[in-house]
Amino acid sequence: MLTGQVAFEQRFGENHFDHFARDPELAELFDRSMAAGSRMFDPLPAHPVLIAAAEGGTVVDIAGGNGELLRRILSAHPRLHGILLERPHTIETARRFLGAAGHTARCTFRAGDFAEVPAGGDVYHLSRVLHVWDDDRCREILRHCARAMPDTADLLVVERVLPADGSASLATAWDLHMMCDVGGRERRADHYARLFADAGLTLVDRAPLPLDGSVLHARKIGPTNTGSRSSS
Ligand SMILES: C[S@@+](CC[C@H](N)C(=O)[O-])C[C@H]1O[C@@H](n2cnc3c(N)ncnc32)[C@H](O)[C@@H]1O
Repeated sequence: MLTGQVAFEQRFGENHFDHFARDPELAELFDRSMAAGSRMFDPLPAHPVLIAAAEGGTVVDIAGGNGELLRRILSAHPRLHGILLERPHTIETARRFLGAAGHTARCTFRAGDFAEVPAGGDVYHLSRVLHVWDDDRCREILRHCARAMPDTADLLVVERVLPADGSASLATAWDLHMMCDVGGRERRADHYARLFADAGLTLVDRAPLPLDGSVLHARKIGPTNTGSRSSS
């Protein structure tokens, strides 16, 4: 039956994150399934903006899941501090996970919503977050980020970007998966660039990651940023 609705919501009667929030076992399974694709993160700790922030800077991971990306970054850069923002049920998983990795002293855990992105960070991460949402919600999330970011901060967005030439990519299968599961989608780089621009951000650079991933580097558009600083 064609309804035009999100298949998961049609079947379970609620958004999948709300569904997981009420079922700890399912939530843990979801966190582990996200971690299964974390090979995509392998090159990220060596990203130039993290190298630049490594001596005492602060990384903010927005909707950072169980903390796997932050764990890798804090392990690679022992003088970096981390802030992880997540929904309340997932923040506890992240607290245990990063605690077991010995990072509690350098990490602050914030239970909250996208509207509460912490201010004052040097590098902000949105990893596999924007593909969950439609364009309007993405603009909202990006505006929350832009508001919280100092003029000199960097935003790294990790996603599977759809190839502009239609070549084969895991992004195509994920595009379908996201549409059915959450009403989200994968996007081409120029589509992300337009969403960034609508939120007062500019796409500076893009680099490939394993598993057909990409890291998009964005900065704030403003008097101190011309958007010309390249990260690699
Ligand atoms: C697809 S997962 C990505 C997790 C992690 N960044 C990664 O790459 O493995 C999306 C995350 O967004 C979080 N999330 C969903 N709605 C949120 C909200 N309103 N505020 C903050 N986080 C939210 C979920 O709990 C989930 O961990």
